[in-house]
Amino acid sequence: MSDKIKILVCTKGKHCQKRGAEEVLCAFKAERECLGLEDEISVKKSECLGMCDKGPGVYVKGLKLSYKKVSPKDCRDILRTLCAKKSSKGYIPE
Ligand code: FES
Repeated sequence: MSDKIKILVCTKGKHCQKRGAEEVLCAFKAERECLGLEDEISVKKSECLGMCDKGPGVYVKGLKLSYKKVSPKDCRDILRTLCAKKSSKGYIPE
């Protein structure tokens, strides 16, 4: 089992699509590369995550965290936060 942090971005739900989910996905991938975190974090497209009215929605497996109304400018801070959380207790690979 991989112990990568798995970020799911709702890009397949219509509400999040309209609110820029693809741009959020691209920003996560770009920032992940900038920070050299490709081996630590995966970023994948997802079906609806059940937070449609507050999209784009993001769910982080392993840490069981949700982020709502995510914009591309939030992605770098989220990645840094996730790395810090992984280093502390509470990370369970899924
Ligand atoms: S459409 Fe994205 S969370 Fe439902």
